[in-house]
Amino acid sequence: MTEQWNPGTKDSTATLTARLAGELRGEPATSASSAGGAAVALRDVAVRFGDHVAVRDATFTMGANRVTALVGPSGCGKTSILRAVNRLHDHTGGTVSGSVRLGELDVYRAGTSAEMVRSRVGMVFQRPNPFPTMSIFDNVVAGLRFNGVRSKSLLAEAGEAALRHAALWDIAKDRLQDPAVRLSGGQQQRLCIARALAVEPEVLLMDEPCSALDPVATGKIEDLISELAAHLTVVLVTHNMFQAARVSDDTAVFLLGEDRVGELVEFGPTADVFGQPKDERTKAYVTGHIG
Ligand SMILES: Nc1ncnc2c1ncn2[C@@H]1O[C@H](COP(=O)(O)OP(=O)(O)OP(=O)(O)O)[C@@H](O)[C@H]1O
Ligand SMILES: [Mg+2]
Repeated sequence: MTEQWNPGTKDSTATLTARLAGELRGEPATSASSAGGAAVALRDVAVRFGDHVAVRDATFTMGANRVTALVGPSGCGKTSILRAVNRLHDHTGGTVSGSVRLGELDVYRAGTSAEMVRSRVGMVFQRPNPFPTMSIFDNVVAGLRFNGVRSKSLLAEAGEAALRHAALWDIAKDRLQDPAVRLSGGQQQRLCIARALAVEPEVLLMDEPCSALDPVATGKIEDLISELAAHLTVVLVTHNMFQAARVSDDTAVFLLGEDRVGELVEFGPTADVFGQPKDERTKAYVTGHIG
């Protein structure tokens, strides 16, 4: 866990602190991080687990400050692609081939560390996973603490900014020291989003973030996703076609080939992918006829 959060250099801590200090000088959190997203460009990306190819032929760009939805049936490699972006296969036996670029950074080049990548990329998982023994506040600032930020006032300011950003401040402000697990599922997921945002990532990867939530909590997260794209790049895996249509700018459709390997069959603006898909299989999938 420490390794995942720690960017590994004093410089990046200094940069982070300087940016946080900018907020403390009175610049609103939103303008401090506006349009701060980085594009994520995949070229011929494949992910393998031993001999099994999970997904192949992924060439597309998740545009800076856009919301890109990854859709497709279970097992077609959506999570595998998402995890390839922030090097989460490094320790799970998966191998990634092809090229992944985060802005100008070549994610898999020798000399690029996983920590370097992860300090710029936040992730939110399917089930809310706040650190169970920590308070709401300690959860939000966990990443900053791992990055070496010690100033209480700085942590308080950054924690508040992140909670506001995740639309949780009004609920959490009077109970910051309560255990995080006392929040509802939807609130816990917003807390996890706040935790990811606190370190000011350029990209937020979300793997089915609403699948455990009711429609009201889902609506809140969807509103949040749309607002977040003003500040960073959002990549959203979802099984819900309505959700993809509602919140994403671009959609990548993955399907299983005849050999049961996942592949990218269509990518483009969401309106086109849903309105006039080029590929017959895409059409069948997005209209609910296969999958
Ligand atoms: N750690 C792993 N070890 C071995 N095989 C794996 C591993 N992770 C994923 N796979 C395999 O890779 C393929 C793609 O899995 P992945 O989780 O990326 O699919 P997905 O599209 O996210 O599915 P879902 O919609 O069910 O979440 C599946 O066949 C899966 O069994
Ligand atoms: Mg998945």
